[in-house]
Amino acid sequence: MRFGIYVHIPYCIQRCTYCDFATYEQSKILPPQKYIELLFKEIQQKKGFFSARPLDTLYFGGGTPSLIPSELIVAIIQELAKHGYTTGPQTEITLEINPATVSEAKLEMYLSAGVNRFSVGAQTFDDRLLKLVHREHSAQQTLDTLALLRKFNLNFSFDILFALPSQTLAGLSRDVDIAIEQGAKHISPYCLTVPDGHPLAMGRPIEEEQLEMFDVISQRLNSSGFHQYEISNFSIPGFESRHNLLYWSDDEYWGLGLSAHSYKKSSPWGVRFWNLSNINEYEKQILTTKGEGYSEPSTLLSKEQFEVLQKHQSLTDFCHTSLRTLSGLNVQTLATKFSTNTAEKVLPSLSRLQASGWIETNDIGHWSLTKQGLLVSNQVFAQLTFLQDEI
Ligand SMILES: C[S@@+](CC[C@H](N)C(=O)[O-])C[C@H]1O[C@@H](n2cnc3c(N)ncnc32)[C@H](O)[C@@H]1O
Ligand code: SF4
Repeated sequence: MRFGIYVHIPYCIQRCTYCDFATYEQSKILPPQKYIELLFKEIQQKKGFFSARPLDTLYFGGGTPSLIPSELIVAIIQELAKHGYTTGPQTEITLEINPATVSEAKLEMYLSAGVNRFSVGAQTFDDRLLKLVHREHSAQQTLDTLALLRKFNLNFSFDILFALPSQTLAGLSRDVDIAIEQGAKHISPYCLTVPDGHPLAMGRPIEEEQLEMFDVISQRLNSSGFHQYEISNFSIPGFESRHNLLYWSDDEYWGLGLSAHSYKKSSPWGVRFWNLSNINEYEKQILTTKGEGYSEPSTLLSKEQFEVLQKHQSLTDFCHTSLRTLSGLNVQTLATKFSTNTAEKVLPSLSRLQASGWIETNDIGHWSLTKQGLLVSNQVFAQLTFLQDEI
């Protein structure tokens, strides 16, 4: 069973208006050194949830992990190792970086601590659009950051944002071409999501054009040797994000820091738990927690912060997460986890979705989304959402 840790670093140069992740402008939050002290306390308090073991993956996400002193990233890796969550050459260690926030010295320090994968928030290479969505960097700064990563021969991924106000298909194609030319081995395209009434909700491509945009992205990437191994993730084979795959493969993960989510496979159907997303409340909870050695989230966290899964919820999660991936849903694995009887109850839904042309099966019982199903995955998932009395 694989195991990974996510560490949330909630610092940004400025808040992008479209972003609803738990993160703060750096001057409006406690200094990074103090935040790291909270993280260390949290590790002490919760290490009983997950037995110490070597990590398969470690992911620093944000926010902007590359904004805080690199010594602090190294210190977190060392602190985890002190508690038995060790890393080595076998561990995928990813760090999210924003353009213009890394230097050679910082990179050298990350590399010395074992960081071996960088996720670059490029978003778009169009300066007009970068300004429009209030990104603080220019396209040239992204290119300079990428040149630095290439100088060190590093493995990097790109986030690309599409369906931005006034963005055209031609502009998006250019973004994807630049991303490929620049040597990314992994690309995550995200369709901008903003609520109705948001200033960026005006002048966006309509839904039909958004689907066309995604089609252009996947065609361009497929013809350049990338494969779509998950709904929003493409990679050159062998460069999939092992950390992301963990989220979709029913493996355990531990999320540390503000708003981070975790999954523990405790009997019978597992438990999900998460941290508070307001920095003052998170800090207060960590500082007022007494003692260590808690073994179950329910003994430490408030009841709004965990969910002990019932069988129908676990089955729903299993179906959704496995269908997100290229390898798909394996009925035999489902039967082993939940029972043959349960698998038989799921089969009619799978057949209905197959008749709609949204999923397909191969002859060894793996079901996966069709090209059409990928575009309407929310409707597919709605039909694989089970209620307590159905299972
Ligand atoms: C939380 S950010 C962290 C990475 C980094 N700070 C950055 O902004 O590049 C992770 C990714 O989420 C995506 N994202 C954030 N807000 C989004 C939104 N409202 N709609 C779609 N994608 C969004 C962006 O593409 C971003 O790269
Ligand atoms: S830099 Fe990234 S994490 Fe920070 S506000 Fe912008 S999108 Fe959100």
